[in-house]
Amino acid sequence: MAYNLLKGKRGIITGALDQNSIAWKVAEKAHEEGATFVLTNAPIAMRMGEIKGLAEKTGSEIIPADATNVDELTNLFTKSQEVLGGKIDFVLHSIGMSVNIRKNIPYTELNYDYFQKGIDVSALSFHKMLAVAKKLDAINEYGSVVALTYMAAQRVYPFYTDMADIKAMLESIARSFGYHYGKDKKVRINTVSQSPTRTTAGSGIKGFGDFFDYANEIAPLGNATAEDCANYCITLFSDLTRMVTMQNLFHDGGYSTTGVSSAILEQLGIEQQQG
Ligand SMILES: NC(=O)c1ccc[n+]([C@@H]2O[C@H](COP(=O)([O-])OP(=O)(O)OC[C@H]3O[C@@H](n4cnc5c(N)ncnc54)[C@H](O)[C@@H]3O)[C@@H](O)[C@H]2O)c1
Repeated sequence: MAYNLLKGKRGIITGALDQNSIAWKVAEKAHEEGATFVLTNAPIAMRMGEIKGLAEKTGSEIIPADATNVDELTNLFTKSQEVLGGKIDFVLHSIGMSVNIRKNIPYTELNYDYFQKGIDVSALSFHKMLAVAKKLDAINEYGSVVALTYMAAQRVYPFYTDMADIKAMLESIARSFGYHYGKDKKVRINTVSQSPTRTTAGSGIKGFGDFFDYANEIAPLGNATAEDCANYCITLFSDLTRMVTMQNLFHDGGYSTTGVSSAILEQLGIEQQQG
């Protein structure tokens, strides 16, 4: 069911690679809710991806940009305003990549070139995007910028290796930039900390399937899907959340505040009190 929550709003959505991508679902929902937007991804991902189909379905233009490249981001924000006919109201940062994870390198033996690449793609890209938008004054007052993150920024998940540190940086950028952009232009910046989700980036993590099941058993509501995440992002882009900024918002079915669940204790053969 649609509520017209984004009627008349203009956006930029990064990171839609295929139908499993969280950004893909956000684009579908934003379209349903009346927004117009530009889709963007790294040029290499466009060749592999199915983004053209999504653009057709949502009546969107595609503007390629490598999120580590300030010139390409400048072009993205400039052209998006031209294409959409005004300043931007919402931006989704849905970009993550770790070569160390891809190559299965343990945390204590990280390759630092790969680490720096991961930082640039997955965290500094957020700062660069915000800096470009601010310099161009491309976002309307009370516009909303959301980046996707994972709870390994707060707690240790050994297999998440350098992405844990990178996500901590991403969340910090949301707070720090959120302060400055909020003071100067009333632009809101938040991160959404999402449940494990079956996507290309998610499934690239070793043991993802087991971990997905574990989190699902811990969370009282179970894991939040990509579609659930999209719905949450839409509320954050809408005027209904206009005073929410500089927050890391858990979207995980209650996982982050659950110590242990009866399902896990049962699996361990531990007898429990009723209650
Ligand atoms: N899948 C999960 O379990 C999970 C959980 C929590 C948070 N997240 C986060 O959600 C976000 C989206 O990931 P996803 O799970 O939808 O996977 P995905 O693989 O579908 O999306 C990742 C996107 O990043 C893009 N990207 C990579 N390098 C880029 C660059 N240089 N410039 C521009 N774009 C680039 C890819 O092309 C891809 O579209 C990521 O930040 C990820 O860390 C994912």
